[in-house]
Amino acid sequence: MNRNRRRVLQAGSALAAVALAGPGMAAGRTPSSRLPDVHIELRAIRDEVTLRPGKPTAVWRYMGRLIAGDAAALQMEGGTYLGPTIRLSRGQRVRIELSNELPEATTIHWHGLHVPDDMDGHPRHAVAPGGRYIYEFTVLNGAGTYWYHAHPHGRTGSQVYRGLAGVLLVSDDEESTLALPRGGYDLPLVLQDRTFDADQQLVYPASNESNAMMNGGGMHGGAMMSGSAMAGMMARMMGVLGDELLVNGRSSKDLEVLPRAYRLRMVNGANTRTFKLAWSDGSPLTVIGTDGGLLDRPQEREYLMLAPAERIDIWADFGRWDPGAPVVLRSLEFDGGMTRGGSRLPDGSGFDVLKFAVLRGDRSAALEPPQRLAHLPDAQPQSAINAGLPKVFDLTMRMMAWGVNGRSFNMLQASPEETVKLGTHEVWEFRNEGQGSMMGMVMAHSMHIHGVQFRVLKRQVSSSFAAAYQTVSAGLVDEGWKDTVLVMPGERVQVLVGFSDYAGLFLYHCHMLEHEDAGLMRNYLVQA
Ligand code: C2O
Ligand code: CU
Repeated sequence: MNRNRRRVLQAGSALAAVALAGPGMAAGRTPSSRLPDVHIELRAIRDEVTLRPGKPTAVWRYMGRLIAGDAAALQMEGGTYLGPTIRLSRGQRVRIELSNELPEATTIHWHGLHVPDDMDGHPRHAVAPGGRYIYEFTVLNGAGTYWYHAHPHGRTGSQVYRGLAGVLLVSDDEESTLALPRGGYDLPLVLQDRTFDADQQLVYPASNESNAMMNGGGMHGGAMMSGSAMAGMMARMMGVLGDELLVNGRSSKDLEVLPRAYRLRMVNGANTRTFKLAWSDGSPLTVIGTDGGLLDRPQEREYLMLAPAERIDIWADFGRWDPGAPVVLRSLEFDGGMTRGGSRLPDGSGFDVLKFAVLRGDRSAALEPPQRLAHLPDAQPQSAINAGLPKVFDLTMRMMAWGVNGRSFNMLQASPEETVKLGTHEVWEFRNEGQGSMMGMVMAHSMHIHGVQFRVLKRQVSSSFAAAYQTVSAGLVDEGWKDTVLVMPGERVQVLVGFSDYAGLFLYHCHMLEHEDAGLMRNYLVQA
């Protein structure tokens, strides 16, 4: 990338000023002279959508426009707050112009994609209201289900909750040779929980006072708080749960399907909720892909865990069920550690996710998934420069503030253990052992590393958490490429991460968005 060709388009905000001082500085771009294969404008706007009978709901959302490229690259739908579905292929050069028409700063993160640090939506590149930012990158990822969402400092939870997210699908030559369901039989299903008030408006816990406390890094000074501020603060620390499930940014209703095979691309777009997906009749689920693309071969599970930001591609043959029979994808009960108050649908409760109505039709298409999917190399832990000596990242709570190894988020800081060398692999170990937590209460976390796809090497859970762990362990899929991994209470998870192509400052964090906003996020620095 030619850094000299770029200049600042708009640098009005304090955040942008911070960005100018930071590594990989950038607050906007002039496009490179090479024409992109796909050129899209995304306006982040305030809007209203009719989600439920009655009054429309105020949302924040991405409005898309295709400036150049194949018409299939951008698909806008009505009746949802989700942004357009973006379809790209590997190798394409992409330019996406963000126009921030919101009353606060924002950025867009291309979750799961391997892009340069100043194209990754880091909060240091926040775009002030009225500003623009040009994201430009080449698609290096393999075929898979990715997504994009807002990522400003301290406001990711509320912005995503209001609607700032969308699906991004990548295809490639390897995938196109496989007999997989396509077109209308290839369905992204974004799962999100929301709470509506009597006026049909989205409810997100008030965060003004709590926000100030969070940004102060903890509970100093012993300030008196009102009851509602306290409740808001607790919600912000524990995570926001809605009591109604939305699929693809709409109130869930029956989905009509033909008695044939579908590819269901499940995306957990919820702020904090984890799903334990299962068919209501107890039949196994067939997994063909995870966060970073297709598996080597299909895997069967009795149920599937899907933590915030994780994706899982399911092969679903609706011909197995009789037409007219109720087919329900459910989320089953599980024990995710401490239970959270403040929601009528606590994390780990059971509920219906989506009902399928199987129509009559003929069963002509392939019913079994291909037994060979993608070429997926074996993970090579011995390739890591610290093989046998994992770097430890303890998920901590200190002075009522989330953090990693005792440090909360700092915009430009990366510690020595958070510094890595370009062109190397490392083994990282996330430990969720409740360090600093109150009364031994430990919550699950969903750890995401920006800019990479990693492999899960091993998991180990301490015996005192074994019973809770058994309610989820059979539903973990660690076989493929991952960018987000569920770390249960009492668990240590080792991952093998490679740092290639791009030096710079990237994030890693818990994708329970309120944890992220409250400090469970850090940078890692890739040195050339
Ligand atoms: Cu999808 Cu930093 O996150
Ligand atoms: Cu978390």
